Amino acid sequence: MFPTDPKTDKASDVQSLREALVEALERPGHHISPIWFYDQRGSELFEEITKLPSYYLARTEIKILDDNLEEISKVIGADRLVIELGSGSSRKTLRLLEALEQPAGYVPVDISADYLLQAAASLSKKLPSLPVMALVADFTTMFSLPLSLPPHRSRLGFFPGSTVGNLEVAEVLSLLTHCHKVFGDEAAFLIGVDLDKSPEVLISAYDDPEGVTAEFNRNLLKRINRELGLEIDPRAFAHQARYFTDPARIEMHLVAIIDQKFEISGRTYTLAAGESFHTETSHKYTIESFSQLAEKADWEVTQYWCDTKKRFAVLLLEAAACR
Ligand code: AVI
Repeated sequence: MFPTDPKTDKASDVQSLREALVEALERPGHHISPIWFYDQRGSELFEEITKLPSYYLARTEIKILDDNLEEISKVIGADRLVIELGSGSSRKTLRLLEALEQPAGYVPVDISADYLLQAAASLSKKLPSLPVMALVADFTTMFSLPLSLPPHRSRLGFFPGSTVGNLEVAEVLSLLTHCHKVFGDEAAFLIGVDLDKSPEVLISAYDDPEGVTAEFNRNLLKRINRELGLEIDPRAFAHQARYFTDPARIEMHLVAIIDQKFEISGRTYTLAAGESFHTETSHKYTIESFSQLAEKADWEVTQYWCDTKKRFAVLLLEAAACR
């Protein structure tokens, strides 16, 4: 998952980063997972990105939620246990929990224990009567819910922020299939999805004129230097956002401007000028393409809310058995 550190144990974190880098250098495509963006500085830069004029995603989703909370709450109904995937700061969830009719409880799921417990404690202060059970887990693997849960009518998954876009299509399918199993046949799922649109708008969202996304991307190299003791020159890599169709997506790359050599654990790896690390994919959907994907995992998109420019959508999925 994304705006959090992948592991809390520092030693294995460094080892996993080394393995991820070696794998990226050895394999064609040179892909390295976006989970490695989010060290302290990376998380700060991501926060900055969400405030940029060209990065419309975060503020558009918040506005969609704010404008439609009453209706969303009515459709979702009372007595739901809300389970948020990759809850992070739980910022958007407070609004949702306040709007819902008697939510039965809140289960924030995140891989970063420190961040999760802090956010859960601060939410509990604001909503003292709501049972909150934080779950430290990587939701992209087969997580299960805590054994003791408050009584509830049914479950509501919440997965905002277009984080779903950072998963490969096959990963989305296995996540939705697993969530159907864990949430049950009466469940609903509210998911924030960035919609496919003109490449110009998308490219400027991922290659802003202020250069914050470029810094966010290059920060990965600084993290690698710091944690693995390498001396990569971040200025010798150009930030690039590339738009592709089939499936619609933005890919972020760090393109080597000059030939690069990396000494890792006694071995030498190279990246020639013009080759790049592929650091992130952000899939872009249409309502139809996401609905088709959801259907394969036995979810039905029963309703959705968009902004006026149709840039972003909040989709409501219902488990197929309750159709
Ligand atoms: C976290 N995630 C949904 C962001 C995205 O839009 O894919 C990460 C990001 N990458 C560049 N800018 C923002």
